[in-house]
Order: sequence, then structure tokens, then C-alpha cells
Amino acid sequence: MTQESVAVELRGIGKRFPGVIANHDVDLTIRAGTVHALIGENGAGKSTLMKILYGVQKPDDGTIAINGREVALRTPTDAIANGVGMVFQHFMLADNLTVLENMVLGAEKLHGIGDRARAEIRRISDAFGFGLQPDVLVEKLGVADRQRLEIAKVLYRGACIIILDEPTAVLVPQEVDALFANLRELRNAGNAVLFISHKLDEVLAIADDITVMRRGTTVGTADPHTTTKRELAELMVGSELPSPETEESTVTDTVELTLANVTLADEFGRNLLTDVSLSIHRGEILGIAGVEGNGQAELVETIMGMRIPGGGTIHLGTEDVTHWHTRKLREAGIGYIPEDRHRHGLLLDAPLWENRILGHQTQAPNAKGPWINRSGARKDTQRIVAEYDVRAPGIDTPARALSGGNQQKLIVGREMSGDPVLLIASHPTRGVDVGAQAAIWDHIKRARRAGLAVLLISADLDELIGLSDTIQVILRGRLVGTFDPASVTPQDLGAAMTGGQAA
Ligand SMILES: Nc1ncnc2c1ncn2[C@@H]1O[C@H](COP(=O)(O)OP(=O)(O)O)[C@@H](O)[C@H]1O
Ligand SMILES: [Mg+2]
Repeated sequence: MTQESVAVELRGIGKRFPGVIANHDVDLTIRAGTVHALIGENGAGKSTLMKILYGVQKPDDGTIAINGREVALRTPTDAIANGVGMVFQHFMLADNLTVLENMVLGAEKLHGIGDRARAEIRRISDAFGFGLQPDVLVEKLGVADRQRLEIAKVLYRGACIIILDEPTAVLVPQEVDALFANLRELRNAGNAVLFISHKLDEVLAIADDITVMRRGTTVGTADPHTTTKRELAELMVGSELPSPETEESTVTDTVELTLANVTLADEFGRNLLTDVSLSIHRGEILGIAGVEGNGQAELVETIMGMRIPGGGTIHLGTEDVTHWHTRKLREAGIGYIPEDRHRHGLLLDAPLWENRILGHQTQAPNAKGPWINRSGARKDTQRIVAEYDVRAPGIDTPARALSGGNQQKLIVGREMSGDPVLLIASHPTRGVDVGAQAAIWDHIKRARRAGLAVLLISADLDELIGLSDTIQVILRGRLVGTFDPASVTPQDLGAAMTGGQAA
């Protein structure tokens, strides 16, 4: 079934972003006629590597050879000319156009826009079992059909090396089975399919070859016929020892946050959170471990009043806050470090002092009665910049001009202001440099000693183990296990996170 010819050969690939090494020393060999799984934890560098292979990102180091020939991929057009196509995590289709129109858009030269195009779409659809109907409007299509259309689009453009970045993240199990049937057809026709995932069951079900990435580099390959889920989980999280930072416990008897049987469903009635119960005491850090997309974001948004739970209750102290909205929760003393600092944490074009106000516009020192207190906010921004070592020319600098680590320190400083009782921290040190990471950890630990309750969501297992007083694992919207950070290993967590072990 598999052929020995090499479709893609990446050697020594490196890619740096300001403050982050996204890829270094990456070696990857993809055989033609195979499904090759690229696995790794969130942040391991998978998407960056694939964007390099698709000409979206330019590598700083290394070489790319396709079908034995070294190539320079400066743009996606170069990649497509070399037979490389990519389906992104977020689809790029025009809703108000038909399947056919989406297919030919930007590729009119290939088969025109009429009968020849229609025939080619038929051919692709029939060859791989896509079931595409050329004249249906894309807005009428479900997620799985949109995905098939995206795959068909790259085939239409002549791709024989097809990259799918976390394609199953958006699918329900039956849709995953159907996708895998399509992928097998693609492989059997001699294509190389690159399947990015962190779901180990799926990887073992579909892959011919597996390459594992960790912390920006490829750390090994595995044979899906002989490897276990547990071994893969260990490769993914690494066997390095955590740097245990857990200091003496400061956990008190006073419960600050309680969730009782919280459930949340999406618009189709599928459960995003099921029966989530937890409590966090003052002086306690509760860490949540989980593979991204298992309900962490929904949990945070539910606590923060951005989503309304379908069942269950949330208490802050003794107050029932289940139906409170975000502003009231913030005013009651919840600090929030959001997962995506660019979308939810900062106004990039606004100066630092205006960013100090963001989300806290009704609170001192930013407000005086109904008015914004400009000088109060400016003065307090000076304080944050000094206390949190935010390296910036001044408080009138736009947030965009700061490095990721300094942006994050500003957010942490803002969210710790006014002595919150509870801090919700989503990936507080993701993408920041080592110095800023240590500084952020110190601030969180200091606040914990002073009685702050913290909900810490992180993909960095060393961070979770080092900081947390208790760790719970979330899997498919349920809390499935509780672990003591003093004794748990990243391997144990990795196994529980992927359902590799009954916890
Ligand atoms: N455009 C970018 N600018 C800055 N940092 C980035 C960019 N893209 C990715 N990163 C960082 O590179 C690292 C690897 O990210 P990514 O390749 O998306 O990982 P994965 O797909 O395995 O989750 C992360 O720390 C991420 O924050
Ligand atoms: Mg990714």
C-alpha cells in the first residue's frame, strides 16, 4: 500500500518570532502514498511548520525538498505549483457563493468556470467519495461538507501533498469516520496526506507514519502498528522532570469559587461542559490540564459570564453569580487573563494607559462616578509598568509596540490591580519569553500567598505542576481526574488528558 518514494523532506527547519522559537532543528520525512500524522501538544510548533511547507511563513533555517528536489516556497502559490495544498483550521470559503464558484475562485485558469470545471469537480468528488454538489450554496453546507470542499479545492489546484491542520477538531465522531474514509482514498491514489492532531486514538486509527513534535522540534517517530497511546503521550509531553516550584501550601478553609454540576450546550444541543463541579479556596491555585478544545475555553467563558450555563450553579464566596454578566463579575473582584491577548486582552493600537482601563472602565482608579478618570488611569499605569517590569518607552506607547512578554505583563498587572479575590488565568505565560514567564509566575505566587484564589488553565504541564495546589484534568467537557501536583508526572497527566488511562 505504501510506496518508498519520498514526497517531502524537511531538514533543519527553524523559525523564530519575537520572543518565541516556534521551530528549531525540525527534520521530517513524508513518504508518498501515506497518511503521516504530525502530533504534539498545543504550542509544539505544528502549525508553524505546516505554514512553512505551504509558503505562508518563511523559515529562518533549513531546507525543503519536494519529490527529491530542493525548493524555495515563498508564497502559497509556489507551494501549490510544487503540489502542496493546505486546509487550515479555520475554513476560508465564501458563504454566499456555490460549491463550484468557491472551487474555481482564483483558479479560473485551470479548467475555466463552466462545464470543464464542473466535470473536474465531479471527477474529484467521485474519486474520493466527497459527494459534492456543484450548485449548492456554501452557506447551506455543514461543517463536514465544508471541510470536504476545502480538501477538494486543493486537489482541484493539483495538490498531491495535502496538509490538514487539526481537521477533526470541528467534527463529531461519525464525521471523523467519514473523513478518514476520504483520507484513505486519497492515500491509496498515491497522495501524501499530512494529518495534524493531538488526539491519539485518531492518530493510531489513520496514520501510516507518526512524527512527534515537542517544544518546537521533532523529537521522534513512531510506528502506529506497534506504539501504544501511552507511549505516544509520553513522547508528546517529554520525560524531562518538571521544575517543582510548589511552595508550602497557603490553601485556606474559605471557599472562593464553587461550581456545582455546571453544564453548557452549543447551539446544536451538543454538550460542551457536562456536570462540572469544582471549588477553589482562598490561597489555592487549581490547575486545569487538558488537550486544547476539551472545554477549557468554555469553562472560563461560563465563569466569566460570557456564556450562560444550561444547568448547575456558580458561587463566588457565598453569592450565587450563575447569571451575572461579565462587568458585574469583574466588579465583584474577578481578574481575568484571557487566552488570546490580542483578541480579548488588549487594544493594540491604543496606548498602554487606555489598555489599563479596558475591562475595568467602571472601577477605581479608572473611574470617578460615571466618568473615566484619565489622570487616575495614567498614574496607575505608571505603577503597573514599574511593578511588573513592563519594558516600554512610556505609557503613551501603543500596546502593539511591545513584545509579547511585555504585553502579557501589562495584562497581568492590570488584572491583579484592585486586589481581586479570584483570578482566572488562561495560558498566562504562553508565547512569552523565559524572563517574563518567571516574573508572571512570581506575581501569581505572591498573590496566592496573600489569599488569592486562582483558576489556572495551561497547556504547559510543567507550569501546571509547578504552580498548582491541585490539578484536575478536563476531557470532552468533563472533569475526569484529580491529581496531586506533588506526585503527578507529566506522563500521568498526558495519559489522562488523552483518555489513555482511567483516572
Ligand atoms: N505569527 C506568530 N507570531 C508570534 N508567535 C507565534 C506565531 N505563530 C506561532 N507562534 C508561537 O509559536 C509557538 C508554536 O505555535 P504553533 O506552531 O501554532 O503550535 P501548534 O500548532 O503545535 O499548537 C507558540 O508559542 C506560538 O505562540
Ligand atoms: Mg496548531
